Amino acid sequence: MRDVDALLDEMDSYEWDDVKDYSHPGYEAAAPKRFKEDIERYGLELNGSVLDVCSGPVSLASVYDDVVATDVDPSMVKNMREHGIRAIIADMRDLPFDPDSFDYVMSFWPPMAIYEDKSQGVEDFIEDLFTIARDKVIIQSTPMSRYLPERFNDYLESSDGRMIVYDVAAYKQDMAAEEMLNDVYGMVA
Ligand SMILES: C[S@@+](CC[C@H](N)C(=O)[O-])C[C@H]1O[C@@H](n2cnc3c(N)ncnc32)[C@H](O)[C@@H]1O
Repeated sequence: MRDVDALLDEMDSYEWDDVKDYSHPGYEAAAPKRFKEDIERYGLELNGSVLDVCSGPVSLASVYDDVVATDVDPSMVKNMREHGIRAIIADMRDLPFDPDSFDYVMSFWPPMAIYEDKSQGVEDFIEDLFTIARDKVIIQSTPMSRYLPERFNDYLESSDGRMIVYDVAAYKQDMAAEEMLNDVYGMVA
């Protein structure tokens, strides 16, 4: 696990000349509008830093200021860097970030086909996002909505089959309280 600045520095010395240029003007023009509409529709008011996982070539940096974007495809990351977006190559199954690195961890339409065992894959993914986030985890995904792990259900703020919002701050508060009780009483109350 690494500090965000160290990961960004590492990206500066990547062999970008060897990476294919991304070019899909239609997507680039449409994505910010879609992000904005979705964020408004769900009333997502965010104040703080955002990690965008599986960001694609444009990312939520097109609608929020304080965003670090990640994608597994170097072409996507190259395109974002060329537009001044702080972007890091990372696989969603092996995210390299320190715990509590961002206020919000968001992922719009992450792939599901990569998981052989979808329940386990989604549970591992959500667990990782909980580790990295301080405040909320926000995932937009109809397919993932069908595989949400029960163990985080108490912290689901909303789940309409498409937009999934978890209250990570409440989860972390409860975990800290449990740990404290465990330290004091040797058992969870
Ligand atoms: C459907 S696109 C969504 C892009 C963007 N978030 C949006 O809503 O338009 C999925 C993105 O996930 C990326 N991706 C695919 N497999 C991945 C993996 N294992 N780890 C991280 N990103 C991955 C793809 O390169 C692609 O940019």
